[in-house]
Amino acid sequence: MSSHKIIIAIDGYSSCGKSTLAKELGKKLGYNYIDSGAMYRAITLYFLRNHIDYTNPVAVLDAIANINLGFVFNEQLERSDIELNGEDVEPYIRDMIVSEKVSEVAAIREVRAFAVAQQKRMGRKKGIVMDGRDIGTTVFPDAELKIFMTADPDVRVMRRFQEMYATNPQITIDEVRHNLELRDYIDSTREESPLHRADDAILLDNSNLTKEEQLEIVLEWVKDRATNPRVTQ
Ligand code: DC
Repeated sequence: MSSHKIIIAIDGYSSCGKSTLAKELGKKLGYNYIDSGAMYRAITLYFLRNHIDYTNPVAVLDAIANINLGFVFNEQLERSDIELNGEDVEPYIRDMIVSEKVSEVAAIREVRAFAVAQQKRMGRKKGIVMDGRDIGTTVFPDAELKIFMTADPDVRVMRRFQEMYATNPQITIDEVRHNLELRDYIDSTREESPLHRADDAILLDNSNLTKEEQLEIVLEWVKDRATNPRVTQ
């Protein structure tokens, strides 16, 4: 049976390595990789820069009407950078000031409706790998392959610390741990599309896997799903 393009949905807690896996899959398969978290981060950056009172739904809707998000491929770094109203904001969206607010912003119904509508459009032609918190449950409930990633909390803290330390040597392990715990709590207890594992998602615990081992395992799953399509209603 010939293989065809599918949708790969990757969800999980913060700093489980979702983006790393998604990016490598995109490269290997020639699929478009979309970091949906970057969209919520760019919206948060806009709110912060423009002093938007995001506790006020009218202010949120007004602000959203002025936001345009897009992705451009950065040849040099081999990744898709997010653009906010035509500006490449990739260098700013992972700053602690954004990380501290992004879960609150991502919990706002109007913000999610805006981001999810755009994400759904991106998947129309399939051949896409998207990572986030609600991709297999809300954005692509019919995705051919859904993966729910998890890893030991200490492993996740160290991974995020190393990533952040490169650009911010002032950061402490405790700050990183606190931010991760808080975000996981808000992401999984919010009313709108909380983070949870879809019934048909495959669990991937990568605490003791190298990036290469993980990629090999998932490529087998992709091969299976791309050649044996599931019947969807
Ligand atoms: O993946 P990340 O850490 O860059 O995501 C940033 C925040 O955005 C995270 O706290 C949860 C939120 N998010 C979400 O609610 N839904 C998504 N699909 C992706 C991210």
